[in-house]
Amino acid sequence: TEGAGRVGKRPDTLTGIAEGIAACRDCPIGGLGTCAVMGEGNQNAVLMIVGEQPGDQEEMAGRPFIGPAGQLLNEYLREAGIVREKAYCTNAVKHFKFAQRGKRRIHQTPTAKEVDACRWWLESERALIRPKISVALGASAARSFLGRTVNVARERSQALTLDDGSELWITTHPSYLLRLDGAAKAEQRRAFAHDLSVIAGRIA
Ligand code: URA
Repeated sequence: TEGAGRVGKRPDTLTGIAEGIAACRDCPIGGLGTCAVMGEGNQNAVLMIVGEQPGDQEEMAGRPFIGPAGQLLNEYLREAGIVREKAYCTNAVKHFKFAQRGKRRIHQTPTAKEVDACRWWLESERALIRPKISVALGASAARSFLGRTVNVARERSQALTLDDGSELWITTHPSYLLRLDGAAKAEQRRAFAHDLSVIAGRIA
């Protein structure tokens, strides 16, 4: 399936994709003046991990999942026995969408249209990496894989089949876990750890 924004030949290297996303203005986020953040990791990865979009720290460093959400993700991956360096990590949306509040840049959730405009790039990464298992962290990533609205609570924790026959697992985003408190936090963290342990078993 094509993304909403683009047709034509896909880049045949990750470098080509990196150059493409840097120049991409298919949605308004590309015009905010920030740097695009390319995926990183093992080009032969069995596992692809996909978040929503780079955050403030990711945009400055030019690397995915290095801020607070990334650190929480790292903890849970380690606990599940998944080696992040063996995987490929990227985002559904390649630019950082934010609202400026004084000196702070406040994360804003990308719209469905913006996620759909960026799908072409995720699909291009998938076409090169060809992971057997993909993990969508949260609704934006799930939308980018499936091209439709996803209810994470309803569709998580089970293997879905993508167009190329590979598996997609949907789970929560680590930023969501950072926002919770009390019993909900304990319950959701347990559920996230459980999903990752099941996924670890699929790649072993
Ligand atoms: N959240 C994401 O979804 N991706 C990142 O790269 C960082 C935070």
